[in-house]
Formats: sequence, C-alpha cells, structure tokens
Amino acid sequence: MEGKVAFITGAARGQGRSHAVRLAQEGADIIAVDICGPISDEPAVIASSTPEDLAETVKLVEDLDRRIVAIQADVRDFDALKAAVDSGVEQLGKLDVIVANAGIGNGGATLDKTSERDWQEMIDINLSGVWKSVKAGVPHLISGGNGGSIILTSSVGGLKAYPNTGHYIAAKHGVVGLMRSFAVELGEHSIRVNSVHPTNVNTPMFMNEGTMKLFRPDLENPGPEDMELVAKFMHVLPIGWVEPEDISNAVLFLASDEARFVTGVTLSVDAGSCLK
Ligand SMILES: NC(=O)c1ccc[n+]([C@@H]2O[C@H](COP(=O)([O-])OP(=O)(O)OC[C@H]3O[C@@H](n4cnc5c(N)ncnc54)[C@H](O)[C@@H]3O)[C@@H](O)[C@H]2O)c1
Repeated sequence: MEGKVAFITGAARGQGRSHAVRLAQEGADIIAVDICGPISDEPAVIASSTPEDLAETVKLVEDLDRRIVAIQADVRDFDALKAAVDSGVEQLGKLDVIVANAGIGNGGATLDKTSERDWQEMIDINLSGVWKSVKAGVPHLISGGNGGSIILTSSVGGLKAYPNTGHYIAAKHGVVGLMRSFAVELGEHSIRVNSVHPTNVNTPMFMNEGTMKLFRPDLENPGPEDMELVAKFMHVLPIGWVEPEDISNAVLFLASDEARFVTGVTLSVDAGSCLK
C-alpha cells in the first residue's frame, strides 16, 4: 500500500478505525470520515461515536508515520462527503482506494412491524450512504488514471437472511447490487469493486447490552461469555465472533495489487456462517 491513499468512511471506531490502521501499517495515507455523533434525535440503541474517537484514529495512524486527513461528515450528505474527499485529495495528492464501511444497526422487528422511520434511516445510511461515498470518490480514481480498488462493507446479512432485521438485510443485499453495478461500470478504468461480508465483529455495533439480550433473552444480565455460547452456533468454526483486524486483512488484500484481477467478488469473513 506504499504511496497509496485510502478514503475510509466510519473511521472513528470499530472496523473503520481498524481498516485505517491496517492500511497505514502497510504504507497508505488515509482520508477518514465519520459522523462522530448521534445519527438522529431518537435515543440511540448503540452509543454514538465521538470526535475523540476520530482523534484516536488520527493518533494511531500518525504513530505509524503516515498522513491522515480526518473530517466529520455524514454519509447521507453527498455534498459534505464530496467536500471531504476533495479536501483529502488536495492535501494527500491522490486517491487509490475507497472503503465504504460506515453503517448502523437500528430497530429490531419483523418487516411487517418495522417503522417507516427505521426503514428509511437504514436505507439512507447503509445503502444510499455507500452509493454516495463511492460516487464522491470515483472522479478522483478515474482522473488519477491508475485504476483503483473499491471495497463495500456488506455483511453475512447481505448474502442470507435473519429474522427481525429485514431492513438491514435488504440494505446489505442492496450493497451487493451496488458492488456489482459499480464493478461492471468502472472495470474499463481498471477500477476493481468488491464487497466484504463479516459475521459478528467485536465492535460497539455487536458487543453491546442490546445484542447480548437478543442472544440470551433467558438471562437477566447476559455478558459476552453467555452470548458466545449461543453465537457459536452461527458458525462452522468454534467462535462467536471475529475481531475487526480479521475484516481489515480482507480489506487489505482487496485494496492491494495482490488482488489486481479480483473484481465483483463477495468475500465472506464469516467463520463458515454462510454454510449454515
Ligand atoms: N459489528 C458487526 O457485527 C458487523 C457485522 C457485519 C457487518 N457489519 C458492518 O460493518 C460496518 C462497520 O461497523 P462496525 O462493526 O465497525 O460498527 P461501529 O458502530 O463500531 O462503527 C460504525 C461507524 O460508522 C459511523 N457511522 C454511522 N453512521 C454514519 C453516517 N451516517 N455517516 C458517517 N459515519 C457514520 C459511526 O459513527 C461509527 O464510527 C457497518 O457497515 C456494519 O453494518 C458489522
């Protein structure tokens, strides 16, 4: 990744931060975007990221002697995204990689009971936000004339369905459609487009009280170990979840020239979840 610049959304914490650090370890400079705050006025199911979280990502990348431009922006706001990428490219000189990673979990009902608000927010961030992130970065990849790699974060839920989160499943399946469409449209520019499909990842989106109660409704105060016993049944390998670095290594491969002829691929990092 030496000499390359990667634009990463949702980079304040979790997988986005891990991707920034992993790509920087291999020599990339980073344009990091995150909303760094609540996504709506409604009480958040999962604690929001903060400007301090993004500042920590900046520190971790700078500690690796790489450059990083970090900007607070909402992936629902195309103009803000475009301004962020344009500014990042102006400061870092180019763009080679886009990682559209920002996403949310909300609600938790069967589709017939899902509120229009939860539906809309989910589609706006987890599907339209991915499209807008790529749309904001693509002109720089094309004008750079050196090809590029685009990685969209979907989920195992982008390949198969689970109950009580149909709006998330629909958005993440939609990301696969985006990935395939961008791949056929951008191939002539030697721009590759792939998606990653994580199972449960040890980030705030998964490792929180709400998820633990979802996995263990039989317990009053379930902890990670209680959740793990049940989460293991989702997988072929004997684990309940993977670490953010496991996804970052897949992102790194797809971003790198080692994957120079890999495009249009749905890459699962799922401990065998799709086999079940
Ligand atoms: N954690 C899991 O179990 C899991 C599993 C499969 C897929 N995923 C996907 O991985 C991606 C990363 O999630 P994570 O696990 O790191 O969760 P996370 O909640 O730790 O991080 C998500 C980041 O995205 C940011 N974000 C959310 N909405 C945004 C918006 N509108 N604009 C800009 N930034 C926004 C958040 O502020 C946060 O920093 C998401 O797309 C998620 O759907 C997560």
